[in-house]
Amino acid sequence: MKVTTIGTGYVGLVTGACLAEMGNHVVCLDVNPEKIRVLNEGGIPIHEPGLDSVVARNVAAGRLQFTTDVDAAVNHGTILFIAVGTPPGEDGSADLQYVLAAARSIGQRMTDYKVIVDKSTVPVGTAEKVNAAIREELDKRGATATYSVVSNPEFLKEGAAVDDFMKPDRIVVGSDDEQATLMMRALYAPFTRSHDRLMVMDVKSAEFTKYAANAMLATRISFMNELALLAEKVGADIELVRRGIGSDPRIGYQFLYAGAGYGGSCFPKDVKALVRTGREYGQDLKVLNAVEDANDRQKLVLVDKVVARFGEDLAGKRFAVWGLAFKPNTDDMREAPSLTIIEELTRRGAAIAAYDPVAMSEASKVLSANPGVSFCERAEHALPDADALVIVTEWKEFRTPDFDRIKAELKQPVVFDGRNLYEPTLMKALGIEHHAIGRGTTTRMG
Ligand code: NAD
Ligand code: UDX
Repeated sequence: MKVTTIGTGYVGLVTGACLAEMGNHVVCLDVNPEKIRVLNEGGIPIHEPGLDSVVARNVAAGRLQFTTDVDAAVNHGTILFIAVGTPPGEDGSADLQYVLAAARSIGQRMTDYKVIVDKSTVPVGTAEKVNAAIREELDKRGATATYSVVSNPEFLKEGAAVDDFMKPDRIVVGSDDEQATLMMRALYAPFTRSHDRLMVMDVKSAEFTKYAANAMLATRISFMNELALLAEKVGADIELVRRGIGSDPRIGYQFLYAGAGYGGSCFPKDVKALVRTGREYGQDLKVLNAVEDANDRQKLVLVDKVVARFGEDLAGKRFAVWGLAFKPNTDDMREAPSLTIIEELTRRGAAIAAYDPVAMSEASKVLSANPGVSFCERAEHALPDADALVIVTEWKEFRTPDFDRIKAELKQPVVFDGRNLYEPTLMKALGIEHHAIGRGTTTRMG
């Protein structure tokens, strides 16, 4: 099939590359010429494991192209995915300006039947707005081309995006139109061969499903983070509690890790947008309001622990920070808890020596205005003369570090373990003061 993705970011690029992998002819359009230049020169503008080889293979096979040429891109696809950003507006609602601009650009050019797919995460009712924007543009130029608008939210996770797309848990298609549904079924058939994972529902339910999924996952995390705060007070270990409750299949083990708070380009903005939709309809979403508040507080938990240990005035103190990306296996810094933590520590006068395996370039752009931050090429280079090590993101390379070196290089062996990477008993045996999240006892030496 002929497919176009409008927007070549995390979602558009992964969608385009994976659809090309199944034999479709895909054109990825973006308004950012730099992104398209990098792709056309064989580079990948984001860090996403496995994506480079899928892109290279399909470009070489002539099935995947990148362009800024809107005419050519709209003309190419029979199925057009809108995969542009939907960032939070000032009031927390999803800003639809990019989605509607994409819709208009389609309406201004289309001459034959198209299926227009809302892949971006968009509030209930957006398909109607996309439909109206296209209709208006067609009417303006007296064109009569027919089209269908369907919703097909994306559930991929950064860092595992290619796998998630190639082996989806489910594919949700919101469609009121039989022809469009048949085309979506055909497009996704290669991804659901072992058993049918494609669910067709009405458009509004599909749009709502995406927010419900992210809101549920964010709720689990905030819930565990809140229990972790209490576990510390009562002397329980949240890791043992996690295993204890996760063994119940009704609960399950995933997304129950207490930590330094959730970040990323999705949970924070999608929780906000759903709360905002609730408000619009006179429905106060009390649980989700609390999920957001709890996460705001959680991003400060490591800072509170540092302040409790070293005092409110951190002038003259230096901290090694390991892990800057909002989670491992990505260079995405959007809403990363590290940003809040670094901002709060430097505001109190501390100097930061920061390291991340892949997000340094992104992080240095975002943190360029903060003179208190320096970047280190290797994790251990951040340690010398630091008063403590603060771990914010659980990259694999931090799981088994050289503890002797940590002890030798830090001014005193103090570790703030924001992702519960290390067992408190091991830290105690090693003589390392270990401040974890919700693990009952802090191993404070001396
Ligand atoms: P992104 O910022 O990485 O990419 C969006 C791209 O769209 C940018 O490159 C931008 O230049 C381009 N763009 C904007 N307007 C355009 C236009 N009119 N024509 C062509 N290109 C245009 O965003 P993303 O992370 O890929 O997210 C896209 C959508 O998918 C959002 O709604 C997001 O909530 C949703 N989503 C994201 C993820 C994720 O993990 N990142 C997962 C599921 C869903
Ligand atoms: C999320 C959804 O998982 C995905 O389905 C959706 O399509 C996009 O949003 P993503 O933002 O890429 O994906 O990352 P995810 O793995 O969900 O992690 C989000 C945040 O939650 C990270 O900051 C992570 O550190 C945090 N998290 C996750 C926890 O704090 N504890 C957990 O148990 C799991």
